[in-house]
Amino acid sequence: MTTTTNQAVIDRERAHYQVHGRYLLSFLERDRTESERWLIRRVLATWDRQLALLPSELIRDRRVLEIGCGNPRVLQYFAALGAAEVIGNDLAPAFVQRGFARPHNYAAGRAVAAIDVPMRYGDATGQALRGLTVDTVTCFQSLHHLDLPGFVAACNGVLAPGGHVAISDPTGDHPLRRLGDAVGRGSGLLSPDEKARPAREVIAAFLDRGFELLVHRSLNPTLEIYFHLTELLAPYAPRLAFWAKALMAPLRPLDDWLEAHVLPRRPHWGWRYFLIFRKTEAVR
Ligand SMILES: C[S@@+](CC[C@H](N)C(=O)[O-])C[C@H]1O[C@@H](n2cnc3c(N)ncnc32)[C@H](O)[C@@H]1O
Repeated sequence: MTTTTNQAVIDRERAHYQVHGRYLLSFLERDRTESERWLIRRVLATWDRQLALLPSELIRDRRVLEIGCGNPRVLQYFAALGAAEVIGNDLAPAFVQRGFARPHNYAAGRAVAAIDVPMRYGDATGQALRGLTVDTVTCFQSLHHLDLPGFVAACNGVLAPGGHVAISDPTGDHPLRRLGDAVGRGSGLLSPDEKARPAREVIAAFLDRGFELLVHRSLNPTLEIYFHLTELLAPYAPRLAFWAKALMAPLRPLDDWLEAHVLPRRPHWGWRYFLIFRKTEAVR
């Protein structure tokens, strides 16, 4: 594996997450009362859409690596689902440790045991994953922070033929993406270099290398935009920003309908895409 990402980008990314000024999922840490914990689980039942779509056979009895895991809650969830082993990777140890320090964690609408998880800290497209072999790689909301050819090479390096890669990431060609980026950077929620890509670019990069595309879906046309709007309120009215997320659950049936009937024809109207690839014998 070679280092493909510019060192200055890596340093800025790490600094952004280490300092932890504003964090998109900060609402997870507001879990002091039973009703707050109830709302967190309810919001995650919709936010963690990718977990609902991930076939359990890609996790159960598998060695699973999450690249750019941030808060290790999803790895703790995979362990609860019966993964043989879970391994995390991230650039920013302080950010991940903050997640480990939580007495409770949550994923996909449920509480998960706050267990320890082995970590490989460092740039996933550099040396951080050297010598590792896994059955499944997941990367949720992080690929747009990474160099794409370097990410494909990293997946190829850790997977044996037959292994899988599951990705969920923001849709770069959404009509509101430029506006969303401008607002996100202005409010400090986005890191300086992150850049969402159209799903087709990610698909082309994996297919070029010989991976097989098993699943391509477009997700969350309304509720993720609503979530971001509530987060803009957070610095001024944190309580309101938290409780306003209660409306995400009623938006779920609308998003389900749009995902089934509209997004197959207009995939760039989904705020996020979801892909699963399989590494074939032909992968170079
Ligand atoms: C938006 S957060 C997503 C975290 C988590 N997967 C989630 O869904 O909440 C992006 C994460 O990618 C990590 N990251 C950025 N560049 C990276 C790189 N080159 N290698 C590994 N992790 C990286 C950041 O430190 C951060 O934790």
